[in-house]
Amino acid sequence: MQETWEELQNRCCSCTRCGLCSTRHHVVFGVGNPQAKVMFVGEGPGENEDLQGEPFVGRAGQLLDKLLAAVDLDRHENIYIANIVKCRPPHNRDPLPEEQEACIGWLREQTRRIRPRIIVCLGRIAAQRLYKPDIRITREHGIFEEKGGILFMSTLHPAALLRNPAQKPAAFDDFIRLRQKMEELGLR
Ligand code: URA
Ligand code: SF4
Repeated sequence: MQETWEELQNRCCSCTRCGLCSTRHHVVFGVGNPQAKVMFVGEGPGENEDLQGEPFVGRAGQLLDKLLAAVDLDRHENIYIANIVKCRPPHNRDPLPEEQEACIGWLREQTRRIRPRIIVCLGRIAAQRLYKPDIRITREHGIFEEKGGILFMSTLHPAALLRNPAQKPAAFDDFIRLRQKMEELGLR
């Protein structure tokens, strides 16, 4: 019998496949509805996420929740949110290629189970890893690209929007496009 979602989560939460396990407080498995048609993927937990065990709960997360709410999406209702690496890289550095490689199997398993129609990459690291190794987010955000039966789109990372608020309207536009695409596909 296939293990349940909860069993998968429990297994992930004791993972020691890479060195990030030695500095983490919590494995940040993901949050949301595993039946969702749309997944969001960030790069990895920050300090707040590591302490609370949930993705995007700091200031960037609050901004993400606002953008989601503007298009009637809610992390507890109709989407699923996860990260490329599930343990916090020290000092919030980018996750190393070998850490991403060690961790990606968990995200693959989540994606295999959820079978999302759309995956939205939050920032460059997720976009590079999941569908476009040479992406230039500033030019290519908001554009849908099909790969392996899933539509991928990237948007600017909410933490980048906090540093550069002038980019907020562009990010908002990405969320509007997402809503349009969901309507087109009959997902809402
Ligand atoms: N940034 C990310 O990429 N992921 C989180 O969960 C929080 C901040
Ligand atoms: Fe395991 Fe991923 Fe955490 Fe590394 S980052 S210990 S691979 S869950």
